[in-house]
Amino acid sequence: MTSSEQAPAAKGVGRLVDVRPEPGVAKPDAIFVADDVVRSFGGLRAVDVDHLEIQRGTITSLIGPNGAGKSTFFNVVSGFDRPESGRWSFRGSDITTLPAHRVARTGMVRTFQLTKALTRLTAHENLMLGATGQRGERFLPALVKPMWKRQEAEISARADELLERFNLAHMRDEFAGTMSGGQRKLLEMARALMVEPTMIMLDEPMAGVNPALTQSLLGHIQALRDEGMTIVLVEHDMDVVMGISDWIATFAQGRLIAEGRPEDIRRDEAVIEAYLGAHRSLPPQEEETEDD
Ligand SMILES: Nc1ncnc2c1ncn2[C@@H]1O[C@H](COP(=O)(O)OP(=O)(O)OP(=O)(O)O)[C@@H](O)[C@H]1O
Ligand SMILES: [Mg+2]
Repeated sequence: MTSSEQAPAAKGVGRLVDVRPEPGVAKPDAIFVADDVVRSFGGLRAVDVDHLEIQRGTITSLIGPNGAGKSTFFNVVSGFDRPESGRWSFRGSDITTLPAHRVARTGMVRTFQLTKALTRLTAHENLMLGATGQRGERFLPALVKPMWKRQEAEISARADELLERFNLAHMRDEFAGTMSGGQRKLLEMARALMVEPTMIMLDEPMAGVNPALTQSLLGHIQALRDEGMTIVLVEHDMDVVMGISDWIATFAQGRLIAEGRPEDIRRDEAVIEAYLGAHRSLPPQEEETEDD
């Protein structure tokens, strides 16, 4: 099969084959590039990333011990937080100064570690709101304004399509507050997809989700990648990470300490050190477990 016959996603993944496993390494087809991103809280440098590129059409996982700065990095580059310094671009355009809803409109969306589903809106309304590009609840009234009317049917249909896709159609008119944690995670992902993103950043989408729904979520993530979407995934479960990732970037104490394919990361000294130092162990591979 020649490369031109492959699906775009397969091309993105395939082209990582020759990339050296080094922190900050250049990618052949980067969709997202960040430089010198620093975010401190008091004296703590929560994020201090010199250079990070995300290859288009891949599932790239960000891993690292608790407090490594993964969520803070997401917050900064998605426009929900402001850093001391740094610049980052998406699809070749500098988006450093854009607020969150405008970042979303460029095609880059994120979900939150703690779901932001609005409990007193129905599942369907949550998705409708998602169409506004990650704005808050106060923008809901905008949905009923005349300018929205003509798009409303279209948006509503897309919401129903996504509810169907995520097996939530039966919850359409239920308040998000009555949904299980796992269903809310699915809803959050569906909501992010309302803006038809090119890249989706998922912050621990599987946390607190039961095993059956986890499998379903993983299936959705892989399907999105196979459709050509770029996925950035923050995840602690190493079995999941090693199984699903095309590429892994490892954070520790705010810094990017390693990058590579799963097999590179599994045996990377700096990664093992970071996890052992934080009393976490990289699972399976070897039989030893860390019980403390
Ligand atoms: N708003 C804040 N104010 C003060 N400190 C913060 C704030 N947000 C994050 N931090 C600190 O910044 C560091 C990085 O936190 P962050 O949440 O980004 O880590 P993480 O890698 O996402 O961790 P986890 O895996 O536990 O979610 C931590 O030490 C955290 O306590
Ligand atoms: Mg986090």
